[in-house]
Amino acid sequence: MIDKIKELIGEAEAFTTDNKDTLDTFRIKFISKKGLINEIFSEFKNVPNDQKKEFGQAINSLKNAVEGKIKFIQDALESKEETAGIFGDLTRPGTPVNIGSRHPISLVKNQVIDVFSNIGFNVSEGPEIEDDWHNFEALNFPAHHPARDMQDTFFVQMNPDYLLRTHTSSVQVRYMENNQPPIRTISPGRVFRNEAISSRSHCIFHQVEGLYIDKDVSFADLKQTLLYFTKEMFGKSKIRLRPSYFPFTEPSAEVDVYWGLKTETDYRITKGTGWLEIMGCGMVDPNVLKASNINPDEYSGFAFGMGLERMAMLLYQIGDIRMYFENDVRFLEQFKSNF
Ligand code: PHE
Repeated sequence: MIDKIKELIGEAEAFTTDNKDTLDTFRIKFISKKGLINEIFSEFKNVPNDQKKEFGQAINSLKNAVEGKIKFIQDALESKEETAGIFGDLTRPGTPVNIGSRHPISLVKNQVIDVFSNIGFNVSEGPEIEDDWHNFEALNFPAHHPARDMQDTFFVQMNPDYLLRTHTSSVQVRYMENNQPPIRTISPGRVFRNEAISSRSHCIFHQVEGLYIDKDVSFADLKQTLLYFTKEMFGKSKIRLRPSYFPFTEPSAEVDVYWGLKTETDYRITKGTGWLEIMGCGMVDPNVLKASNINPDEYSGFAFGMGLERMAMLLYQIGDIRMYFENDVRFLEQFKSNF
């Protein structure tokens, strides 16, 4: 009996066809109600006890061999049909092309550019590797001045010093060198500081800095411009200016926007105060104008600078600044709808 089963296993393994009906006949022969497997199984009770184990294993192998073969041939027949179908139906939709998404930093940058373009600002850009003059000296940070500690720097070369720019104020210096007032420009770009990387700070980030120089520009113009910006950008209409210090502006201020205390998130991100700091600003220091050959007795102006990562974190509720730089598609794909 065992030999008979082994023979049948050999037969099942050798079986092949590309015809559905032949496959069906094969199936009926082995696994229908009156098929061979059931027939052999009915012998089981007559098998002596000490052979039952071997016998049972042999039937199982036969069953597996037959079922495996049927599945294999069925799959092969189906995929053949499918291939014929694809080429047969020319109206089938094409292979979808995956549409990418813009990076959240680019989305926010474009939004900021839009808001300022509407009030006459143009966009200026400059190099990411800067010399000491444009990044520090012309902005009233003399060598060895402690204010340089505010922006811990990556030097690329010393003597003469070249460094990765720590802010895009350097672009504004370049702009003033090449353009006479009235000047209304914003400078978006990547900046670098030697900071420990954590969920809230990174050694690479992005800024948009703004500069407005003309006759009779006052602090009131600055405040009104910032209010316009916060309304357009965040839909919030209350700001406050806190006195602060930057070498290139005098007076200087930090700008807080009143975010509100309606939700739990509002509480968390504003530490229960309702206020959020969004940028630094001030009236351009006369020394800065002089360094770029603009007469401070004739002209005055204001400047401001903001970090885009922080802004995108607020607008899109992003919890960790490192996500911007990991290029994880699962993160990036979430911004498709904001294209
Ligand atoms: N450059 C400053 C910074 O990077 C921001 C700033 C710009 C502050 C203009 C005031 C005026 O921190």
